[in-house]
Amino acid sequence: MSNYTLKVNGQNLTVDAAPDTPLLWVLRDHLNLVGTKYGCGMGLCGACTVHLNGEAVRSCQLPVSTIGARGITTIEGLDPDGVSAVKEAWNEVDVPQCGYCQSGQIMSAAALLTSNPEPTDSDIDSAMVGNICRCGTYVRIRQAIHLAAE
Ligand code: FES
Repeated sequence: MSNYTLKVNGQNLTVDAAPDTPLLWVLRDHLNLVGTKYGCGMGLCGACTVHLNGEAVRSCQLPVSTIGARGITTIEGLDPDGVSAVKEAWNEVDVPQCGYCQSGQIMSAAALLTSNPEPTDSDIDSAMVGNICRCGTYVRIRQAIHLAAE
């Protein structure tokens, strides 16, 4: 076990964890940030997506020892001022069905809109291809991303 100081949602937080502990479990089990979900644990489903320096990454694939000083944003920290165009669009379009994958979907969508404020359908499909939704809410996800981009 080692101590790691992580910058999470703008706060410096220290955890005591084994170096190979995936960031996903540090967030959920050590920091009680349970909005980030476990799906496959293999980097294939996107349920565990968070931002690392603003880029969408799979937290199940990132050992805590590799994070360093990079800033982590989770779904809980996406809208520190209470305003997130992506979350508002998600609500307006009523995207979720079971909801399990949606925090990962929202984090990927937010990263897309930061890098590409006016994505085409093709851009959206490319950016979101790694986020699996077993309920098949893909059409509403695409609608919500377009709405958030307006
Ligand atoms: Fe990380 Fe599926 S839980 S990609």
